Amino acid sequence: MSEKSDMRKIHIFDTTLRDGEQSPGCTMNLRDKLLVAEMLEAMHVDIIEAGFAIASEGDFEAVKAISGAVKNSAVASLCRALEKDIDRAWEAVKVAAHPRIHTFIATSPIHMSAKLRMTPDEVYGRAVAMVKYARNLCPEVEFSLEDCSRSERPFIYRVVEGVIAAGATTVNIPDTVGYAIPTEFGALIRDIFGNVPNVNDARISVHCHDDLGMGVANTLAAIEAGASQAECTINGIGERAGNAALEEIVMALHTRHEYYKAYTDIDTTRIYATSRCVTNVTGSPVQPNKAIVGENAFAHEAGIHQHGVMANPLTYEIMTPESIGLPRNKMILGKHSGKHAFEQRLKDLGLKVEDDKIEELFTQFKSLADRKKTVSDADIEALAHNIATTFKGTAELDRFSTIASNVITPVSTVRLKVGGELIEKVSAGDGPVNASFSAICEILGVSCRLEDFQLSAVTEGMDAQCRASVRVRFGEHAYRGNGISTDIVEASILAYLQAINAGLEARNA
Ligand code: KIV
Ligand code: ZN
Repeated sequence: MSEKSDMRKIHIFDTTLRDGEQSPGCTMNLRDKLLVAEMLEAMHVDIIEAGFAIASEGDFEAVKAISGAVKNSAVASLCRALEKDIDRAWEAVKVAAHPRIHTFIATSPIHMSAKLRMTPDEVYGRAVAMVKYARNLCPEVEFSLEDCSRSERPFIYRVVEGVIAAGATTVNIPDTVGYAIPTEFGALIRDIFGNVPNVNDARISVHCHDDLGMGVANTLAAIEAGASQAECTINGIGERAGNAALEEIVMALHTRHEYYKAYTDIDTTRIYATSRCVTNVTGSPVQPNKAIVGENAFAHEAGIHQHGVMANPLTYEIMTPESIGLPRNKMILGKHSGKHAFEQRLKDLGLKVEDDKIEELFTQFKSLADRKKTVSDADIEALAHNIATTFKGTAELDRFSTIASNVITPVSTVRLKVGGELIEKVSAGDGPVNASFSAICEILGVSCRLEDFQLSAVTEGMDAQCRASVRVRFGEHAYRGNGISTDIVEASILAYLQAINAGLEARNA
């Protein structure tokens, strides 16, 4: 076993809240983002990229709020290499205990000519000037050469040297379009170390997308070649096919530390809870066979495997479920379980619930246990994440009833509590969910467009809880809402109301 002193530390830069949020259907509201940031900090992520401050008012507010809340991890905001972007990023991160400005410009021939319409000399000049500008504001400045894997070597060396001389403390080499191949990408990093004279004055980072399914492999090849920061996202969410998955990079380095001679400061036992938190707030589940955090990652189906694992888990397990925080051998929780056992299970699952919400959560658990024979860990996670992100908005569901069949037009009667007043409306629709949404809009006098609507079962079985996730557009802005219930219409109504409440809150702010 290698001692830590023989090993290099790899800094983990998490961009779930920025690149991850750019993934289709993964928009998060402020509460979701704060919850995810809290989980990332508890997992000991070195840097949290909290957003792209200039992108929207909502992004700015989220980066600022996360900067105020996070104490141990550094907090970064992305910005283009433009003074106004950098100013906005700094405005959002300056309250952070460890602020970082992350600025970028593209360096590949196609991006420079077709997108930026700038010559390489102009791009070089802008990169150097903007890093200097940012360094006058912030002690930590990261510079990214967008589309670096398709850029020309001499230009890469020139830009990397220039931005380091201008004060960049980290230089990031992205494979923006997921085009690289591990041996080639490792060679690029090695060549940067071999050809940039001041390379050791900054940290070299990598940021790999997964378009060809090689994001993690490219990241690990770059680490072998000398990179000491890995940019990644929880569950690998991100633009297009996503980013390199944090849990895969971290567990590869952890499990194969003898080979990589490298370690991270990540508390691996918090991986599972963080992954589930991201799944819950984005409503975007991971595939069952996903490495590390997929439902089947530690399941053994074949008899011969089960026999081997029972004899000695190491026969088929290269890492333990416990190492990622997946508890084994648990007692089943049901309606007779007490608060103590319930709280212990929350702890085992790595779920932090504020003291003033525990009582309400326990009541919800008991009511679910009354409806279901046994309450699974996935049910408890769904309840806990739901309570952490739900807020008391303008309108609350009081009651509803629907009539639906395949022979009459579905009708829904919804009664909402709006500012202490009970208001009821009846609406017809294509189905009970559509009818309920119309009734809600009528009560609140809002007109909005449902952009995305997803239903998924939290667990298997006829009595499973259902999670509804919606995205609703009010003019320029879209808001996401999640709801859970054993009744799919109720889950949908709760999700829709949460999104509408977020929209009303933003409108009245
Ligand atoms: O993929 C990319 O190149 C990026 C940069 C802005 C870091 O996300
Ligand atoms: Zn990216």
